[in-house]
Amino acid sequence: MESVQNSQKNTQANRNSHAAHPSGDKRFKILDVTIKRNHHRQDALIEVLHKAQEVFGCLETDVLLYVARELKLPASQVYGVATFYHLFTLKPSGTHTCVVCSGTACHVKGGGDIIKALEKHLGIEIGETTADGEISLMTARCLGACGIAPAVVFDGKVAGKQTPESVLERIDQWRQSKPSSE
Ligand code: FES
Repeated sequence: MESVQNSQKNTQANRNSHAAHPSGDKRFKILDVTIKRNHHRQDALIEVLHKAQEVFGCLETDVLLYVARELKLPASQVYGVATFYHLFTLKPSGTHTCVVCSGTACHVKGGGDIIKALEKHLGIEIGETTADGEISLMTARCLGACGIAPAVVFDGKVAGKQTPESVLERIDQWRQSKPSSE
């Protein structure tokens, strides 16, 4: 009896640990929806990677490992596919990364103005990195934080209720904290 209870507890624990990524990053839940819709099928790898890039802005190692685990594929295979196709980006090249949500809720609440302000301020377009290699600018479609729209991810941390002013302020803080090379 006791062992049955233990095994039930373990199953529950497994379900719980599966329900959320240890980082607590809600974007993994969005990715889970695509994985589940495809019934964890291995031949859905490209579609899942597309979704991951859409949600995260790029495919960093932890995301690739997560996809490999969920689709029960060798990490080397997932990495191989991600590097083979030019449409996948593995790493933002800038020291800092700013990902603006371009999903519907964020767009309605002014996400587009944030993107325009950033492009103007940084002199780059979405998908580019500033000439000094400091800041990469990207967009993602729905970060799973619609309740705090418009949302922006600064170096992996989601911030809600952003405005062009608050975002530019954060960007300038990054620039000010840059160690002087002189
Ligand atoms: S639309 Fe931006 S977080 Fe959902």
